[in-house]
Amino acid sequence: MQLTLNSPLDMHLHLRDGEMLRTVAPLSAHSFAAAIIMPNLVPPVTTVEAVTAYKGRILEGIGNEKFDPLMTLFFQESYDVAFLEKAKPYIHGIKLYPAGITTNSEGGVSTIDSAALNMTLTAMSDLEIPLLIHGESNGFVMDREKEFVPVYEDLAQKFPDLKIVMEHITTKESVAALEHHENLYATITLHHLLITLDEVAGGMLQPHLFCKPIAKRPEDREALLSVALSAHPKVMFGSDSAPHPQYAKENCGCAAGVFTAPIALPVLAQLFDTHGKLDNLQTFVSDNAQRIYNYTPPQKSVVLEKKAFTVPEKYGNVVPMYAGEEIGWCIQSVS
Ligand code: DOR
Ligand code: ZN
Repeated sequence: MQLTLNSPLDMHLHLRDGEMLRTVAPLSAHSFAAAIIMPNLVPPVTTVEAVTAYKGRILEGIGNEKFDPLMTLFFQESYDVAFLEKAKPYIHGIKLYPAGITTNSEGGVSTIDSAALNMTLTAMSDLEIPLLIHGESNGFVMDREKEFVPVYEDLAQKFPDLKIVMEHITTKESVAALEHHENLYATITLHHLLITLDEVAGGMLQPHLFCKPIAKRPEDREALLSVALSAHPKVMFGSDSAPHPQYAKENCGCAAGVFTAPIALPVLAQLFDTHGKLDNLQTFVSDNAQRIYNYTPPQKSVVLEKKAFTVPEKYGNVVPMYAGEEIGWCIQSVS
């Protein structure tokens, strides 16, 4: 059995920089037509010059692959209309991190208060620049996303024309919020559709499945599956593929991030096939995102085949999800 995807999109991707960029960027560029590129480098991407220079390094890193890096800026309260007008042609969104909530987010926002952020968010709304949010509070790790939902709702109400993407949602509360506010959208990762906290820490600790937000309860995964498998019009695939070197994962202080870029499409096909929903995969991995972001990707056909494939143990020094395991689908060809 085969399935052809037209211009699959990864709407949340970490490509890093330098040697790591050169290792991972070609893997995404091979099977995806475009991706939203996260700006949490060290230092974060906060200027137009940094955005264009980073885009140049990505394009250099992917060689001849047809792939559109959709750049983002790292949110700063100081971004004003004049700056945003200048930046708009170079970006597809601005990513807001609460300070210190995850990898390289120290320069994020210390309190997310709609009044304090009013100048920047009003300008973004007027200029139609989407706001992408890592939505977690500083509370108990399992409750962080649930506690952040009122913040999403407050922003959605105060800025009704601003498109707000709840990134990598992991809870049934976030899924419910999609229904209550027209301008809330969400990305969903592959790993959060597959695992719960049990797979991370229920047996021997699995560092390669440790990420932020942490995987939650079975009922949360069910809620995510229901909107992803039905290709709910407000959800998009965003892998949050976040590579870290093996030593940083297999370490007494394990870095957060799951590396899924090279296996994402085959494993999505396997998941949708298992649930009898293959017909909805195109909408989940491309069509919804094109509509939500008002974006037309380059043409790319990815043929997936239902055929066993053993996932490599490593790509460079990065260990992927399902390393060394057999998965039921593979990439047959890309044109
Ligand atoms: O697990 C994560 N890793 N979550 C994030 O939000 C950031 C990412 C990274 O950059 O490593
Ligand atoms: Zn991320």
